[in-house]
Amino acid sequence: MEINTAVEHFKKVLESQERRAAEMRAQGDFVDYARLPKIVIGICGGDGIGPVITQEAERVLRFLLADEVAAGKVEFKEIGGLTIENRAACGKAIPDDVMAELKACHVILKGPTTTPRAGDGWPNIESANVAMRKALDLFANVRPVKIPEEGIDWTFFRENTEGGYALGSQGLELDDGVAFDFTVTTTEGTQRIAELAYDYAKKNGKNRVSIITKANVIKTTDGKFLKLCQEVGKRYPDIVTDDWYIDILTAKLIDKQRRGDFQVLVLPNLYGDIVTDEAAEMQGGVGTAGSANIGKKYAMFEAIHGSAPRMVAEGRAKYADPCSMLRATVLLLSHIGRQKQADALEKALDTCMFTEKRLTITGRDTGCTCEEFGDYVMATVKAAE
Ligand code: IPM
Ligand code: MG
Repeated sequence: MEINTAVEHFKKVLESQERRAAEMRAQGDFVDYARLPKIVIGICGGDGIGPVITQEAERVLRFLLADEVAAGKVEFKEIGGLTIENRAACGKAIPDDVMAELKACHVILKGPTTTPRAGDGWPNIESANVAMRKALDLFANVRPVKIPEEGIDWTFFRENTEGGYALGSQGLELDDGVAFDFTVTTTEGTQRIAELAYDYAKKNGKNRVSIITKANVIKTTDGKFLKLCQEVGKRYPDIVTDDWYIDILTAKLIDKQRRGDFQVLVLPNLYGDIVTDEAAEMQGGVGTAGSANIGKKYAMFEAIHGSAPRMVAEGRAKYADPCSMLRATVLLLSHIGRQKQADALEKALDTCMFTEKRLTITGRDTGCTCEEFGDYVMATVKAAE
């Protein structure tokens, strides 16, 4: 790209982000699910092992909400078309008809989707997750990780629409080979994730929030993120705020003496992406962690991992671990105010994953199948009733 064209491009990029900030300012409050006569839950299977683990989570969700479905208070909607084949054919991260269907739901349970990368044969379309987070303005990616025997109970509040992701497909390369990407931090975008993190801490009896940045180097955007989160923190005098740079945080998370001290962590998008994989691995693998993508109008619940096409290619899809999607289901239930069912599922999952009664999943025929695990979870919920 020639430098004048690049300047034009940069101008457009700046304007798009100003518009986004203005839209955020104009937004209303969170949906009050208690006031909705009916909640519509969209189910999107996705790619690879996605349909297998999503189907299992849907089965458990239908089991937990059976009375409400019968009473017409909850409706399920199957949404097809979010597959890599269809997305590639439409040349869009989310085809228009799929987007319309997503927007007709209040909350969405979504399986992992394949994200094209250079050289894999798929057109270079944006990741469906990233596109959905942006289109539905799902600004908070909430990712809990716990290791009960070590007293670890972390909740990561990953900012989900800004940072390196806001313009991830809109970088530029000059003719002489100098390439740029952009990272974006806005006042509104930072305040809203910080407020959600501190509110969560307050409501859940947590007394510490850790702000994670690299503000010593990325001074403008991370510096702003840190400063604004600290300001929000001042409104919560009962909660201790501390801050860590991302490099030392990744070290501290593997420091067994110290890691149990962390409770709620708030962090920009890319650091949140990386560190939550690290944390999930400690819990038992990325296959065990779910996440909530929360916005004011919509919310989407998903696994934190990818679509594992290799498992499908090797014929092992039926042995896929549904725990990530089941954990996402706990978050969904809690988000729509079905706390009783959320607690029941969480308790059953803790039993089935972490205790001596755990059922082993290995991703191969040496462990149980996805469906067997789902059956066991439902039986465990029933046994506790
Ligand atoms: C995640 C994933 C996505 C992300 C990918 C698939 C684009 O890694 O949800 O953490 O980077 O956000
Ligand atoms: Mg990730």
